[in-house]
Amino acid sequence: MSDRRPEKKSKYTSDRGIPGAFEGETVTRRRLMVLAANVTGGIAIGGIALSATGFAVGQSFTKVDTGWHDVGPLDEIPDDTYVPRVITLDPKTGQVGKTTIYVRQRNDAVDKEPADEWNKIIAISSRCMHMGCPARYVQAAQHFICPCHGGVYDFVGAVAGGPPARPLDRFYTRIVEGRVQVGERFSVNSELKRFSPRPPGQPLDGLGPYFYPSRPTIRKMPGT
Ligand code: FES
Repeated sequence: MSDRRPEKKSKYTSDRGIPGAFEGETVTRRRLMVLAANVTGGIAIGGIALSATGFAVGQSFTKVDTGWHDVGPLDEIPDDTYVPRVITLDPKTGQVGKTTIYVRQRNDAVDKEPADEWNKIIAISSRCMHMGCPARYVQAAQHFICPCHGGVYDFVGAVAGGPPARPLDRFYTRIVEGRVQVGERFSVNSELKRFSPRPPGQPLDGLGPYFYPSRPTIRKMPGT
């Protein structure tokens, strides 16, 4: 009798070579399509929350081409604190379509997720991952604070206290001719592993990605 055990498959679809796989995803397209129907209501609520929480506290910059926003010169972006920037997510909705993000240069002393071409600059969403209120970076505490229900996030945006379901979302970034550009939003789990964007309230650790699969229409890398 053979004692060979079946080879253990990676839980990540990208490791398994599944067409259309997204880095960090653990849900196949078939499963995703089935489960997506069950979360339509939740996604709709998340979309409303996004629109309702647009606010502005920093410099405002405009979109430079599809999917990318210029947020200023690299030499104005520190690596030991964040600077706020305002980007327009939906130009058709005026002020409501704007959102504040917090930007800094990657700092290997605190940024432990793998470095790649998309995270030389760290760009963090201000939308709280509890119910979508605007969180604010407080320099004195070096934490992000949400005023609505006491959500607290540490310097890298990971949950440090309160009810948020996961770390603050992030944005892909790139540096073009000495200027910083911000691309598509993505969500992260507690290990800061990337997932396609989810609404607030949806955890991405453990079975979270199975209960809250992504929408196929927003599975897109920037610049592609
Ligand atoms: S919306 Fe931020 S803690 Fe509730």
